[in-house]
Amino acid sequence: MSQTPGSQASAGSIKLNQGWLAPVGLLLLGMLPVIAGAFRLEQLSGISDAMPANPRFSPVPLPVVLHIVSATVLSVLGPLQFAAGFRRRWPTWHRVAGRLLVACGLLVALSGLWMTLFYAPPDGTGALLFVSRIVFGSAMVVSIIIGFVVILRRDVQGHRAWMARGYAIGLGAATQMLVLMVAGIVAGPPNELTHDSLTALSWVINLAVAEWAIRKRHAPRSRATKRSTAHVRASFAGEHP
Ligand code: HEM
Repeated sequence: MSQTPGSQASAGSIKLNQGWLAPVGLLLLGMLPVIAGAFRLEQLSGISDAMPANPRFSPVPLPVVLHIVSATVLSVLGPLQFAAGFRRRWPTWHRVAGRLLVACGLLVALSGLWMTLFYAPPDGTGALLFVSRIVFGSAMVVSIIIGFVVILRRDVQGHRAWMARGYAIGLGAATQMLVLMVAGIVAGPPNELTHDSLTALSWVINLAVAEWAIRKRHAPRSRATKRSTAHVRASFAGEHP
């Protein structure tokens, strides 16, 4: 069946909207811990006591402050790096913001690791939380470093995959809040094992979604999909398909 220019344009705009779906979802999800972090910063700076003080952070607050500030930059600017159309249209933004985000991502993970090792463990948590924070925090550092090194060698596919993994681990903080909130509503306050298992599971869920997205992107596409993607690419570049 032949397509009219109008139907081609609307197919294009559907594709464009789909291209923004993931970044907007990432942004919204990331706002959960960012809001909690804003309350924590207000409490630590004495502006407000809406969030009760945490005696575990009070003697040495710098790591948690660095953690929250870098995590906020990562959660606000990070999603744009995954918007393919924006990336193609503003490659310089992607490169400059990308360098800042590499620094922020490393700071998030390294400060998270520092807090895991040197702050007293939170009440009601055990060895599983400690181990999973060490494992996933380290995996985030490794993913970001690999993602950065491979793009210097022009390996775009590897760069996308490793940055997606690193970001998925970072966003684990948001999935954990969501999962623990839902579990609390459904089954009441979790015990130590349930709490720690759900925390670890949230990281596994995020990594599974990232792997699925990476594989979906690299899967061989049908001719029809290739044609419509070429059309969208051409419209981004201001060309005729
Ligand atoms: C973008 C990602 C992240 C965001 C937005 C985020 C956000 C936060 C916030 C807001 C706090 C303060 C909690 C409070 O005031 O009680 C916190 C604490 C903490 N975060 Fe993250 N975080 C992120 C990633 C990570 C990662 C990857 C790790 C891995 C090790 C981590 C480990 C920790 C630790 C150990 C604490 C201390 C909290 C405690 O033990 O009670 N975070 N994070």
